[in-house]
Amino acid sequence: MIQSLKKNGFYKFKYDFISSETLNKLDKIYKISVNHLVNYSDRKQLNDEEVKSIVRSEIRYSHEANLLLRELSSKLMDFGFADFFITQPYVIIHLPNDKVEIIGGVHNDVVKFSSDCYTVWTPLNQSRSDHPLELFCESHSYFSYYIFKILNKLPKRFFSIDKILKLFFRKYDVSIRKKNVYIWSSKLLHKSLINKTNKIRINLVFRVSKNPFIYEPVKKINQVAMFNNKKFPKVGNIYRLLLQIKKIISNAPKKEILQKIHELGCSYPHHKKYLSFACSLIAQRIPNEISKYYDAASLILFIDNLVSYERLINLNDKNILNNLFLFIPNDRFQSFKQVKMIENNYFSATKLKTLTF
Ligand SMILES: [Fe+2]
Repeated sequence: MIQSLKKNGFYKFKYDFISSETLNKLDKIYKISVNHLVNYSDRKQLNDEEVKSIVRSEIRYSHEANLLLRELSSKLMDFGFADFFITQPYVIIHLPNDKVEIIGGVHNDVVKFSSDCYTVWTPLNQSRSDHPLELFCESHSYFSYYIFKILNKLPKRFFSIDKILKLFFRKYDVSIRKKNVYIWSSKLLHKSLINKTNKIRINLVFRVSKNPFIYEPVKKINQVAMFNNKKFPKVGNIYRLLLQIKKIISNAPKKEILQKIHELGCSYPHHKKYLSFACSLIAQRIPNEISKYYDAASLILFIDNLVSYERLINLNDKNILNNLFLFIPNDRFQSFKQVKMIENNYFSATKLKTLTF
């Protein structure tokens, strides 16, 4: 394990290990994504968040991002993480002045049952004037973890968590330079900052953990480093299909929504996982009354983000929960059962069945 990661809670390195071919491909992906974001945002039928969710999904499953995942995994093996698990890339997009992703304020990235866990962050673009993140150096101890928990429970009217933390911890500004990778402990306190430039900011985030994640598929780092060379079939028309889902959710009789989404998925098997991930992302951003259908759509189409299921359990809409399983194959059932057991607090991480990609 790298010494400064242990001491400061984070470590910066360059991916000089990556081939120029992969680098060029990643540049291309950035340009294509920006083109989609700019051109589709003008269309009246899909809003910014819906277009963003498709672009995020397209990058997540792109061959290029998965090449980076493989090369990054080789590097992480050198750092002593061979036996850890890694997720597929989670894509974060900040449009100029975009406040949607910033709402959370100061936070840590701790995930239930993941044990020793890290976030790996790298930008797809370069922007010298942009500062996307603030890290609070050495804030990854158990002591600050519990202090932060307590501060979070107090009413925020009287003080700013930011200001208090700055009294105790040195602030570190992350910069957007190509080939820079930051790895930090999931307990490290940090904060996303608004994109004040006129350039679209796109970052990739990978999670690395000692125990497998419950809500998301993972693979052992040493396996990814050697075998992750999957070519995903390129699919078109995702925007049109998302629009179809949007129309089903807003216009179809409530009883028929799940059935209709299942039928749409059957007609477009290669699009299912892209749409599933996009639906789960959209559900995070909208009110419960509609988001529950996007969460259900996400689970019916594919299993890649069980956060949707956790949200449905918490919402406890019996109608949706009971009907959902009519459309979910038996082999996926085990993963859902696990999430339910966690919610009921009688789950032990040792019994975990790993969800893989
Ligand atoms: Fe975070």
